Amino acid sequence: MASRPLKGAVIGYGFISSKGHIPAYLERAKKQQDVEIVAIADICEERRVIAGDCVPGARIYTDYEILLEQESEELDFVDISTPPVFHTEIALAAFKKGLHVLCEKPLTTRLEDAKKLLQAAQKYQRVLYPCHNYKHAPVVKAIREVIESGNIGKIRSVTLNTFRNTHAKGVNEWKTHWRREMKYSGGGIAMDHGSHTFYLTFDWLSGYPTAVTAKMSNLEPDKWDTEDNFSAVLTFPNGLAHVCLTWTAGVRKVIYTVQGERGAITVDDDEMQIATMQKTSGPDVAQGAVTWSVEKKNIKSDWMDASHVQWFNSLFDGFKKAIDQGDFVGKEAKEAYLCIQLINQAYESAKEKSKELPLQSEVSF
Ligand SMILES: NC(=O)c1ccc[n+]([C@@H]2O[C@H](COP(=O)([O-])OP(=O)(O)OC[C@H]3O[C@@H](n4cnc5c(N)ncnc54)[C@H](O)[C@@H]3O)[C@@H](O)[C@H]2O)c1
Repeated sequence: MASRPLKGAVIGYGFISSKGHIPAYLERAKKQQDVEIVAIADICEERRVIAGDCVPGARIYTDYEILLEQESEELDFVDISTPPVFHTEIALAAFKKGLHVLCEKPLTTRLEDAKKLLQAAQKYQRVLYPCHNYKHAPVVKAIREVIESGNIGKIRSVTLNTFRNTHAKGVNEWKTHWRREMKYSGGGIAMDHGSHTFYLTFDWLSGYPTAVTAKMSNLEPDKWDTEDNFSAVLTFPNGLAHVCLTWTAGVRKVIYTVQGERGAITVDDDEMQIATMQKTSGPDVAQGAVTWSVEKKNIKSDWMDASHVQWFNSLFDGFKKAIDQGDFVGKEAKEAYLCIQLINQAYESAKEKSKELPLQSEVSF
């Protein structure tokens, strides 16, 4: 027998919720009828008016606390899509009302808050699930398949470059440049984009890092108090991850490489190249004794659409499965905690002239 749809409320009706989450929910409600958004809260009046026009039937609130007070009896989950500094208080309030929590990245800005959320999910037996949506990009799923095939052997290092020609911006009606203001964002590009980069390194290097060294800079210190460039090297049991994130590039794209013992994957947005060593006829690769097989693919992943609406359905499948299985603090939640640890230790490293700092790879909460 089909179960009734999950009833959800969205907190924060800005860019990601109006362009990414809500359109995906509406599409899913039409096709699968397993989700329904019944309420929305936003502190900005203009955003509430737009929400009322665009999401017919949803009850609109000025404040998440009033929404929770009036709606929690009917709700199964909240979707937190506000700027990061508000995630913790909203998630804790939702857990106390017995609701599951889907939360945009970064889960929190401070490690002690991430710990509180994992503890609350366990205590109230409700799912905590971060929006780690890059895992759901078709080309990223294809990388996983190549690694799993074993064709390029064991992975020994990865490089992840995220180039952006500007900082990401919020909707015009609220504080468009909040990502450059520490009091709303908790940090610059590492806080904004670091989670995406770090959970991909965990996946590709099949483990969790034990140390980080980082460097960052801000090209407009008179204007903003968060970094616009960030580089880091993470030490894993299997090898190194090299990370470069910039908001001052001349292009918008990702370039990832995954280096294995017998080959490598290179991804440049939708373009994927898989190079594998076919045979070694001489003593040394450097002497040209390898024949390479190179396969090129184009895997449409809509990288230019920053709402990543196409990836949301697959992410929501994971959230729904965690609810069905009672996986309250699953792999995704633990990896969100490890991402927040990494971002904060990387900031410490950068402050201490790139000193290498340790990371805990076990999540205890
Ligand atoms: N996973 C992704 O690919 C992705 C992409 C973009 C944004 N995000 C994340 O989504 C979140 C929101 O980013 P955005 O770009 O949509 O920002 P935005 O500025 O466009 O939207 C934020 C909205 O939240 C509202 N708001 C602010 N504080 C609030 C509060 N306390 N209670 C209720 N409403 C509040 C604002 O009025 C605004 O409408 C951030 O955590 C960001 O990192 C994730």
